[in-house]
Amino acid sequence: MDQIVNVEEFQELAKRALPKMYFDFYNGGAEDQHTLKENVEAFRRIMFRPRVLVDVSKIDMSTSILGYPISAPIMIAPTGNHKLAHPKGLFRETATAKAAAACNTIMIVSYMSSCTIEEIASSCYAVRFLQLYVYKRRDVTAQMVKRAEKAGFKAIVLTVDVPKLGRREKDIKNKMIPPKLKNFEGAFSMEVRPNKGSGVEAFTSRAFDSSLSWKDIEWLRSITELPILIKGILTHEDALKAVEAGVDGIVVSNHGGRQLDYSPATITVLEEIVQAVGGSIPVFFDGGVRRGTDVFKALALGAKAVLIGRPIVYGLAAKGEDGVKKVIEMIKNEFEITMALSGCPTIADITRNHVRTENEKLH
Ligand code: FNR
Repeated sequence: MDQIVNVEEFQELAKRALPKMYFDFYNGGAEDQHTLKENVEAFRRIMFRPRVLVDVSKIDMSTSILGYPISAPIMIAPTGNHKLAHPKGLFRETATAKAAAACNTIMIVSYMSSCTIEEIASSCYAVRFLQLYVYKRRDVTAQMVKRAEKAGFKAIVLTVDVPKLGRREKDIKNKMIPPKLKNFEGAFSMEVRPNKGSGVEAFTSRAFDSSLSWKDIEWLRSITELPILIKGILTHEDALKAVEAGVDGIVVSNHGGRQLDYSPATITVLEEIVQAVGGSIPVFFDGGVRRGTDVFKALALGAKAVLIGRPIVYGLAAKGEDGVKKVIEMIKNEFEITMALSGCPTIADITRNHVRTENEKLH
């Protein structure tokens, strides 16, 4: 494991460890995969304006999210079906959660997790948020929210960018069959037809409520006291609507390029959204974070913290719980070095002036 020095190497190990169908499911994006690539590429066009002769002998990366202290502004994004990270299903969300606890960070558990949320809750002490999709069967979704409250989850993260599933062509070609979801056993049939395109798409179009709209935030608010974050905001217009709807935070996200291809790279819209929100609620960020430098860039452009998706499942597929730990620690270490070399001993020291986007002239 000492030989592995960056996320890209974990991606390669995951590819070798997994059957093609599962690796493609984790790795792939929608249609031309333009947004998927851009999420990563757009970070490369942002350069630093490092400040020197600042005492960086002590670096403090800690921050707090909705009142919960974490070791660094790096959280685990919700990604479904962790059972697929092992050819025999031996790695699961419980391993990811243990790694989150060991790294003192927050795991956002996917609504589509392979383990039940109770199993994940009892596996470790990590702070957990539950990501939510809304099913046509609202009673099933409401029941999940109640179960999350009971199991000690601290917030609900409502994902709003999947009224229909994006066209993930690899899943269509592979006739990807999602495993049955233990959380909903007995609630309704999860049978999908394997011989007709993507089973993930078939399940989503059958189960997900594509009529979901802004007024449903009130419905969600009426069934839970937990803080509500909205994940999947890409414009300042929708960011303002989210503030008006009274949510407790937003996640700037294009679902890792898996939904609407040619959505902009998230890092290119972050600042517009942060400015619109004007500090009234925290703005979180995901999409393309592969390096500690990316974490720094997102924070400089106004994010409170970042979420990482694929790197976590690469780590899980490559080395199980230890792999996830190593991925988080690596990105944390890179972030720490970036802070030191930029002259920022604390998170509060990171400012807009520490980065230069491609449209800005050299000062
Ligand atoms: C996801 N994502 C996701 N999002 C969500 O709200 N619920 C989910 O169940 C899933 N499932 C999922 C599975 C896999 C395999 C991937 C790669 C992604 C999206 C995820 O939360 C996040 O927005 C992106 O993964 C962020 O981009 P990066 O970090 O993967 O580049």
